[in-house]
Amino acid sequence: MRALAAVNRYFLKYRWLLLLGTLFVILSNIFKALSPGVIGDALDLLIRQLQTYQQLTDEAAKAELRSDVLSGTGRLTLYYLALALGNGLFLFLMRQTLIIMSRHIEYDQKNELFAHYQKLTPAFYKRHNTGDLMNRVAEDVGRVRMYVGPALMYFLNTITLFILVIWAMLKVNPRLTFFVLLPLPVLSVSIYFVNNLIEKRSERIQRQLSKLTSVAQEIFSGIRVIKAYAQEEENSRYFEEQTDIYKDRSLSLARVDAMFQPLMVLLIGLSTLLVVFVGGFEVIQGRLTAGNVAAFIIYVNMLTWPVASLGWVVSIVQRAAVSQRRINEFLQTQPDISSTIPDQGIISGNLEFSHVTFTYPDSGIRALEDISFHIKAGQRVAIIGRTGSGKTTIADLLLRLYEPDSGKIRLGGRPVQDYSLHDLRASIGYVPQDVFLFGDSIQNNIRFGLPDEQQARVEDYAKAAGIHDEIDSFRQGYDTLVGERGVTLSGGQKQRISIARALIKDAPLVVLDDCLSAVDAATEQQILDHLTGMLEKKTALIITHRLSAMEQYDQIILLNEHHIAATGTHAELLRTSAEYREMTEASRKGELI
Ligand SMILES: Nc1ncnc2c1ncn2[C@@H]1O[C@H](COP(=O)(O)OP(=O)(O)O)[C@@H](O)[C@H]1O
Ligand SMILES: [Mg+2]
Repeated sequence: MRALAAVNRYFLKYRWLLLLGTLFVILSNIFKALSPGVIGDALDLLIRQLQTYQQLTDEAAKAELRSDVLSGTGRLTLYYLALALGNGLFLFLMRQTLIIMSRHIEYDQKNELFAHYQKLTPAFYKRHNTGDLMNRVAEDVGRVRMYVGPALMYFLNTITLFILVIWAMLKVNPRLTFFVLLPLPVLSVSIYFVNNLIEKRSERIQRQLSKLTSVAQEIFSGIRVIKAYAQEEENSRYFEEQTDIYKDRSLSLARVDAMFQPLMVLLIGLSTLLVVFVGGFEVIQGRLTAGNVAAFIIYVNMLTWPVASLGWVVSIVQRAAVSQRRINEFLQTQPDISSTIPDQGIISGNLEFSHVTFTYPDSGIRALEDISFHIKAGQRVAIIGRTGSGKTTIADLLLRLYEPDSGKIRLGGRPVQDYSLHDLRASIGYVPQDVFLFGDSIQNNIRFGLPDEQQARVEDYAKAAGIHDEIDSFRQGYDTLVGERGVTLSGGQKQRISIARALIKDAPLVVLDDCLSAVDAATEQQILDHLTGMLEKKTALIITHRLSAMEQYDQIILLNEHHIAATGTHAELLRTSAEYREMTEASRKGELI
């Protein structure tokens, strides 16, 4: 329960809505609690007048009495109507304030959580799966909203109505009040249990449903492989098994659900029965009027729903507490990497790694060991090495997606930690190895982060990345949608679009991680030639798998098993490194290194 204290600051933020809402709850219940008395009065009036009427013989007196009854009941009817209208009006205002407050809180909480997510590093995203993260934003926040909205509203409602109704009942007859209240705790407790059972079973259904969804999703995205291996029947059988589980769970929920209504009706009926029975005795003994008993029956019915909702409120609060605890866990996760340094602008200058060592925290793999190199501003440098030698990790550390265990990375003469994260990343045009395009148009993917960029510039950079002609050949050109709703691009096309995206940023440092692995060697060379102009005044770090045209680089860094095996120009490495000679030889023969 302590977890829920975290939402108190929202109550404080929306305290006016909360106070106003509470006031409306009280007002609406005052109107409500007054109305049964009116019915009782009307009934008593009618019974009394009827008895008098039957004793009258004079026609004129009878007529007078009739009009008396009419005006008396008419007045009471109007009074009752006024009470109902007052009740309705404030009920409306109560929802308008309290439920609206809960939607505001939901909105704030979602945004806060999302903003926090974006601060967390890739290491965090490795530890949690996407579904789990989505649940926090969608389901857990929703459950907390049930607490700050409906549960709070029903709770306030129950408490005020309870006090008012019991006060009204005690005024009429304490003895009857006692008997009437007897079954209510039973009602509340049993609703709590039934509701918990319903929630538990719904949750099991929900879990099975999301399993079903992901099974179907995987089958759909792997449909080519499934067809190629003729696995349709096996898949259908598996899917049927899963839907079978889903059906069983749904049926078990339906059974409990079916119990809910009858249980309510039974317990309400029991209360009503007690009122009639005990109330009847009191009437016979002259301590109560028939109108009092009628009013009591209405009171009982008025109380049952709110009392039943108490059980419901308790289970909502419990659930919200669990959800809020999970939300708190995430909000309290500090980003491994953050900066408090103010933004100062784009950084340029020399890049230096000195004695950098890094181990991936989750796998314990030492990816880099004592890496040192120096790149002058404006140089074009290649990083080469076999798969797994640590090339991508160098880019990750440079972008501060991870922090080195030891050693320093300097840019423009200062450690990268001395800049704001925003400045650092704005100064690097980065093409990651696993390219990612958003489900948007091609042009928006290229001008990502620069929404005001002119179409002409988008096309210039697409030309530089050697993708313009292909985009042009699509029916919708640059407006072609990418991804699920749009075209399926080849790996090479995606890579080149993502190169255009990195270049248009016009950052002084460009890092291309194996960004042409999916195009053939000739195209690669063509693109690199194009890029030469674009990269002229920039520092370029090109991670590559292919040893072609290595003469064009000012420096080559050869990685081997997380170490630097050699650095130098092409000519120098040919002289000094046997490994480099081997690799050049192999790639000349067309083998991959
Ligand atoms: N996110 C990660 N978590 C754990 N280990 C990783 C991660 N990324 C890479 N590694 C490991 O670190 C080593 C270096 O990987 P990487 O830098 O991707 O090599 P390269 O880019 O040269 O192929 C590899 O052994 C790889 O298995
Ligand atoms: Mg790599």
